[in-house]
This record gives sequence, C-alpha cells and structure tokens, in this order.
Amino acid sequence: MTTPHLQVEDLRVTFDTRGGSVSAVEGISFSVAAGRTLCLVGESGSGKSATALAIMGLLGPNARCRGRILFEGMDLASLTDAQRRPFRGKRLGMIFQEPTASLNPVLTIGQQVREAVQLSRSLSRRSAQLETQELLRAMRFSEPARVAEQYPHELSGGMNQRAMMAIALAGRPSLLIADEPTTALDVTVQAEILSLLRRIQAERRLSILLITHDLGVVAHMADDVAVMYAGQLVESGPASMILDNPRHPYTHGLWRSMPRIDSPDRPIPMAGGLPMRQGWQTGCRFRPRCPHAFEACERDPQILMKEVTVGSACWRNVSSIGAESPSASSPMKENPTDH
Ligand SMILES: Nc1ncnc2c1ncn2[C@@H]1O[C@H](COP(=O)(O)OP(=O)(O)OP(=O)(O)O)[C@@H](O)[C@H]1O
Ligand code: SF4
Ligand SMILES: [Mg+2]
Repeated sequence: MTTPHLQVEDLRVTFDTRGGSVSAVEGISFSVAAGRTLCLVGESGSGKSATALAIMGLLGPNARCRGRILFEGMDLASLTDAQRRPFRGKRLGMIFQEPTASLNPVLTIGQQVREAVQLSRSLSRRSAQLETQELLRAMRFSEPARVAEQYPHELSGGMNQRAMMAIALAGRPSLLIADEPTTALDVTVQAEILSLLRRIQAERRLSILLITHDLGVVAHMADDVAVMYAGQLVESGPASMILDNPRHPYTHGLWRSMPRIDSPDRPIPMAGGLPMRQGWQTGCRFRPRCPHAFEACERDPQILMKEVTVGSACWRNVSSIGAESPSASSPMKENPTDH
C-alpha cells in the first residue's frame, strides 16, 4: 500500500461570473501516492486546471473553493493565502502548458531561475547563481551558462519548457503539478520533455500530478489515472487497469478519441459534447452521450465513487465494453466496481 502524498477530498470549485456562478469542480476526491504519477484526464472544460489551481492556491479572486487538500500533514484548503505562500514554489511546484506565456519576456532565463531559487531559500547571489547553473544542467542544457544569458524568445519551445521546469524545481518541491506540459510542443520534443520528467522524478523522488489530453502520455507516464467528466470524477485507479480495461463508458470513449504520440492510429471522436452547465440534469451526467444508458442511470452514480480510490461511477459493469454491450434490461443493483 503506497502512502498518499497529496490527498484531495470532496474538492469543490465555483467561479462567480457576471452570468452567475459556474460550478467547475463538484466534490472530487483522489490522491497522489508518494513518488508516483497520477494522470488527471478529461475533455476540455471538465475542471482539470481548476483542480490544479485549487491545489496550488492560485485560483483567482472570483473563485470559491471547498473541501480538503491534505499535503504533508496540512490541509492547504484551510489556510489563508499568506499561510499557503510558503508552499508555492517550494514544496509544491507547477509547470504550465504554454512556457512562453509563463516566462517573463524581458528577463533572461538565468534571472528568472535565480529569482525562483532566491524566493525559496535565502542564498547569497553567488550561491543562487551556482544553483541556477546546476538546475539548468539538470534540465539537460549542455551550455547552462549561455542559456542563462538568453531571453525566452531566443529559445525553442522545448528549451523554454525545460527552463520552466528549472523554475518549478528551484524550490526543491516534493510534488510537481504539470498542466498539459507538452501539448504546445511537437512530437519529438514532447517525448524528450516526458523522459526528462521521468528522470527527474526518479532522481528527486518527486510525486507528480500530470494533466494531459494525450493517451500516449498517459500510457508512458501514469502510475494511476483519474478521469473527470463535467466537474466530477467518473473513474480512477491504477493505470494498468484503467488503460487496459476501462469500466466507465466515458473513459472508453475518451481513450478512443485521444491522440497518441506513440501511435499512427487516428482518434475516433466521441459523439456529443460536455453538457451545458445550466442544463446539468439529475442522474448520470454522461447519460445523453452514453450508448449503454438505461433506467438506473437516472440515479446519480457519483455515490459509487464515495470513499473509494479505485472505482467507476457507472451503474453498469462496463469491463466488457468494446467486446460486447451489456444488456439494457439487466441493470446492476449494486456497486459494479471491484475494489
Ligand atoms: N476564472 C474563471 N472564471 C470563470 N469560469 C472559469 C474560470 N476558470 C475556469 N472556468 C470554467 O470552469 C470550467 C472548468 O475549466 P478548467 O479550465 O478547469 O477546464 P479544463 O478541464 O482544464 O479544460 P482544458 O482541457 O480546456 O484546459 C470551464 O467551464 C471554465 O469555463
Ligand atoms: S451510469 Fe449509465 S449513463 Fe452513466 S455511464 Fe454508466 S451506463 Fe452510461
Ligand atoms: Mg486546463
């Protein structure tokens, strides 16, 4: 049994907007085990980034967050912004999808990494400089001194992403959150960044929460997987189980619809889209798109995900989806998931 490094319990995120409140995350629970990678997947708008930002304490002023975020003995959600600041950039690091948008265009790479180093520890300028070089070298820059003098626009997308990784690791975090870190990069560079991430994880015993749209990334990186749909968690468990034998019809459709960096097969798009938030109905939210829906699905299957780390919020046992569709006249009476 692996120890949870980060444990998220019943997390809820709501944004206040001019058009009313937008419920982005609705009571999700999952954990990232020490030294392991949990991939959080789901369609655009399902609430993945809102979840990551809630953990980092980086939601904007129009956001309200409830639930528990247990990390190294603290409930981060119960802390004030000032109390949370020491965790950000130190024990908790984050890298984003668009490195060029996250880096400051008027500062050199060296200045930005050094700033992150100095924010996390009180070091002399000289020591911070040495640490900066060391971090850039660890990010596999062959000429760290030269890169340190360069501006983001002088580097390629992949180099900028490695610089972002140096910044995220400057505080020696124990947990790294990576929100689509390779989506903006071309395939070869994606593979390089992912292998670097794995190497760093092994060297530094990092726990990683990785948000991705790419099934190949999940296959390469994930130890565990959590699948989100319309603000809820619909399936979670070990990667080997969820990749090879998805139980939830959404996971199954998602896998078929996702691109793979390691496969030429064309993705098969899933019919329909996320339901409009205003139109969220009772029962299973995936029902309008689900080829396996039946009467029982009018009841909310989220109950099946309560207090489990391995499970599927579906009233059917869908382990045979793809081979054979279950009969619509035989609704499951009990939790169909094996734990
Ligand atoms: N600052 C905000 N104010 C209002 N609504 C927001 C805000 N941030 C996110 N949302 C809404 O919350 C929902 C979840 O957004 P989120 O960014 O978490 O999705 P996501 O799963 O990360 O999608 P993507 O894969 O496109 O990045 C969306 O409906 C989005 O419009
Ligand atoms: S609960 Fe019903 S509608 Fe929802 S995914 Fe399962 S079979 Fe489909
Ligand atoms: Mg996002």
